[in-house]
Amino acid sequence: HDPSRIRNFSIIAHIDHGKSTLSDRILEITGSVAKRDMQQQILDSMDIERERGITIKSQAVRVLYTAHDGKEYELNLIDTPGHVDFTYEVSRSLAACEGAVLVVDATQGVEAQTLANAMMAMNANLDIVPLINKIDLPAAEPERVKAQIEEALAIPAQDAVLCSAKTGVGVQDLLESIVYNVSPPQGDQHAALRALIFDSYFDPYRGVIAFVRVVDGYLSQGDHIQFMATHNDALIEDLGVKTPAELSLPSLNVGDVGFVVTGLKDVSLVKVGDTITHFDTPASEPLAGYRDVKPMVFVGLFPIEGDQFEPLREALEKLSLNDPALVWEQEKSHALGFGFRVGFLGLLHMEVIEERLEREFGLNLLATAPSVEYKVYLRNKECICLHSPQELPDPSEIAQIEEPYLTVKILVPPDYVGAVMDLSVSRRATFITMNYLSPTTVELVWEMPLSELIMDYFDKLKSSTKGYASLDYEFLGYKPSNLVKLDILLAGKPVDALSFIIHKDKAYERGRILTEKLKDIIPRQMFEVPIQAAVGGRVLARETVRAKRKDVLAKCYGGDISRKRKLLEKQKEGKKRMKSIGNVDVPQEAFMAILKVD
Ligand code: GTP
Repeated sequence: HDPSRIRNFSIIAHIDHGKSTLSDRILEITGSVAKRDMQQQILDSMDIERERGITIKSQAVRVLYTAHDGKEYELNLIDTPGHVDFTYEVSRSLAACEGAVLVVDATQGVEAQTLANAMMAMNANLDIVPLINKIDLPAAEPERVKAQIEEALAIPAQDAVLCSAKTGVGVQDLLESIVYNVSPPQGDQHAALRALIFDSYFDPYRGVIAFVRVVDGYLSQGDHIQFMATHNDALIEDLGVKTPAELSLPSLNVGDVGFVVTGLKDVSLVKVGDTITHFDTPASEPLAGYRDVKPMVFVGLFPIEGDQFEPLREALEKLSLNDPALVWEQEKSHALGFGFRVGFLGLLHMEVIEERLEREFGLNLLATAPSVEYKVYLRNKECICLHSPQELPDPSEIAQIEEPYLTVKILVPPDYVGAVMDLSVSRRATFITMNYLSPTTVELVWEMPLSELIMDYFDKLKSSTKGYASLDYEFLGYKPSNLVKLDILLAGKPVDALSFIIHKDKAYERGRILTEKLKDIIPRQMFEVPIQAAVGGRVLARETVRAKRKDVLAKCYGGDISRKRKLLEKQKEGKKRMKSIGNVDVPQEAFMAILKVD
């Protein structure tokens, strides 16, 4: 065991810059996966990915590489999750490395998550190997991107690796660069064991499997280990490395990266960021930076058919086996019946889980508009954490409401600064600062309520900047806001699942827009349906859905055919996701309308 021959590194990139393609190419070029198996390999890992829920999970693969100096090196490629929902997991993966390959698309240049990931790598004191990818594309501008990396990120880029992960050009150069520019692991083989968990997942046959980086000491088959943050203990049933096939080893030594089979039955016992030590000879201090992941976005999920409540519970239980960030509690709505209030890390996490519930578990669900967690301070000094707008106490009992704020960083070409300003100010954002990272890249920093970000902000940002803006955010803290609950009444009755919390100054306008939209969304019924928006019993806006005639198509008689087809499609779409509330049929779209601002 010679740590000087080990290199532990991650690949970091903005989404779509080619991280996965590059990882696959590295496995292929180092002969870990034969080219003809490549397709199969990729499919397999997608299966695992599916099984494990979502690509938030990092994995580690060891490849062997004989460098130009004639020596064989052990390269551990530690995968990081690619999306802004999962920044915390990225930082955990980086903590297991000495180096990071920073991939930048030669046609796109530096984007918001390039910057965010590069900052994380610098904060973790990693050696950074810049790589410019997709040089095979005609629109590639490697020289411009080099200059941009230097100006925007202050990372020397003259020797950046020029690469096409697609064709394989430059991958060999990358491996050389990793061997020469990334430091070998330090650490004390004779000290008490400290191993960082940077990933864990539940295997139905073997229990929880953790991916670890041994920082000090060593870990052997059969060892009695302890988890320093959760105080659980376990006996190691197996350990080794992924190549990517599993390879059992007698031990993992200082500097090594590998897997540990614990036999534990619950993934929440083996938390990402926790430190493993020996039960009998524990280390005195855990490794830095353990933190619980916290759900930020909450949604009510209700089965369309009442008999799917138990299957929904079972599906959620199954999914949370492998996803400690997924939390849920039972919820009852007057309008929608029994369901669950489910918490997610962010919108991407939410979308993936909702889709899996429907596709893999065959559930037909109605989802309320997502909401955030509010802290409500009552006059009697009590504080409640509110996940569901319908639970907001009467205003007379409330002393103050606080909502979560984010620090939002946007990268955009200078021409679009005005558009970003207009949009962000309309979303209650406070301007913090603006930096020219390069002549073509401006960084804008804002503080903004999370509730505004989840209202379609990203799509609006993209469309108002012709797709050029990119975004990154992190949780800032809670701040007091003047918030009220906006109720929606259908046929005179408030529909609890349609109510939402909004800033007082925006309630009137949103109420008006929303009633107009609902008027178009809610299908005509046999009777007239008034739609009202109200705050605290005071009606702010009203629209009416007229009673329908017998035949929906009758009114199209003589009209053009495309309109007729549209109507039929709309009817079909509506049938799929419709819930009778009182005696009014309400489609899923009505719930999502709350998020669309115009
Ligand atoms: P996420 O997994 O979504 O974070 O994306 P990623 O960064 O892993 O990117 P991925 O490897 O999925 O590549 C994104 C797209 O770029 C895919 O369509 C790839 O085929 C393409 N791509 C990746 N590398 C190259 C390259 O060197 N040249 C060209 N022409 N296309 C590439």
